[in-house]
Amino acid sequence: MRITVNVDGVAYGDEVEPRTLLVHHLRERLGRTGTVVGCDTGNCGACTVLLDGRSAKSCSVLAVQADGREVTTVEGLARDGRLHPVQQAFHDNHALQCGFCTPGMLLQAVDLLTEDPDPDEDAVRRGLEGNLCRCTGYQNIVRAVRDAAARINAAATSGTGADAGGAA
Ligand code: FES
Ligand code: FES
Repeated sequence: MRITVNVDGVAYGDEVEPRTLLVHHLRERLGRTGTVVGCDTGNCGACTVLLDGRSAKSCSVLAVQADGREVTTVEGLARDGRLHPVQQAFHDNHALQCGFCTPGMLLQAVDLLTEDPDPDEDAVRRGLEGNLCRCTGYQNIVRAVRDAAARINAAATSGTGADAGGAA
């Protein structure tokens, strides 16, 4: 089937098999290897991307279901050479160890902050419950998401334009 998917702001037209998963399309056809596969069964969240601005586990979505839609991967989060505030907060709060879960955590955190711009610790933990970190570094991840919320809200108040959204 012929599909066109906008990935990180660029439209890609391709022939795909109806059974091709979005995560495999992103990695193998479009070279977006920042989106990783941790389980292939919808449990770990490592493959999370934004689909039309909301988080989705790309191992649970067929590539054909993304036809005509916008996908944001971890490679599309930075803008104009600057890390997204969530990426910067993960960096500054040492919120990764091996980094395998990090792309999915980042995209899920962006989704969470779009839905709830000022989540308390419980809300962050609930928002990230579909994303597993096998290094169990949750403490710093939660801290980083709350720090990112503070940065985004401060930037919005001062009018410097940072926001929780992904690239579009
Ligand atoms: S690889 Fe998609 S949820 Fe684990
Ligand atoms: S940092 Fe290693 S899996 Fe999360």
